[in-house]
Amino acid sequence: MQIIICKNGEEVAKKTANLILKTIKTNKNPVLGLATGSTPLLMYKLLVEDFQQNCTSWANVITFNLDEYCGLSSNNEQSYRYYMNENLFKHINIDFSQTYLPNGNGNFKLNAEVYENQIINFGPIDLQILGIGTNGHIGFNEPGTDFNSLTHVVNLNEQTIKDNARFFNNDISQVPKQAITMGIKTILNSKVIVLMASGINKAEAIYHLVNTKPTTQWPCTALQSHDQVIIIIDKDAASLLKKS
Ligand code: F6R
Repeated sequence: MQIIICKNGEEVAKKTANLILKTIKTNKNPVLGLATGSTPLLMYKLLVEDFQQNCTSWANVITFNLDEYCGLSSNNEQSYRYYMNENLFKHINIDFSQTYLPNGNGNFKLNAEVYENQIINFGPIDLQILGIGTNGHIGFNEPGTDFNSLTHVVNLNEQTIKDNARFFNNDISQVPKQAITMGIKTILNSKVIVLMASGINKAEAIYHLVNTKPTTQWPCTALQSHDQVIIIIDKDAASLLKKS
């Protein structure tokens, strides 16, 4: 596990964006795993700026997002499909039919299986971007999730619903209670995994990611078994790590 400590969230975004650009430029048909949430927002902005300034082509890129809420339509502003279209896809030359997210409508269980098969068909994912929940979740793999899990339907835990209420007018009752997420094994099948985090509220999860023996209580600790993991975090998120 390589740990890169940056002075702030901006540097985290810049370094991660550069890794994505390198992956796009060095692979003929790059497959990217993408995350949503507040952490990658600036990174997507930098990727859009790069496209406007340097015309890096996304024409051959295939993307798979980590997760999607159940029950929100794709034009619902809180859906992750909407988030990805608005923050990245509609600003670059990607083929929309090559951008995959789990389908959060219809038969959730079946949709999860279909998604796992799509990843297998196009994969392995060359570079998977992750954020991290304050409870150590990766994707929406909440504490207690089996490390062998594939894409599945998940009941979001109380902490996650509370954390994400900020995207739903701070109204917990509006936050969907279920989501479809890549499983931990799905994530670990990626060739390279980059986890990005900033802010003091992520410090405890980062501490466990690095120091705690793998346990399902901290899903992020599953990453310790992968030999190509890069953690890109700011000083605050790193504040509970020892100097060494
Ligand atoms: C998002 C995802 C989640 C987030 C995590 C952190 O697709 O899978 O694991 O990465 O909840 O969210 P933020 O960045 O909003 O703190």
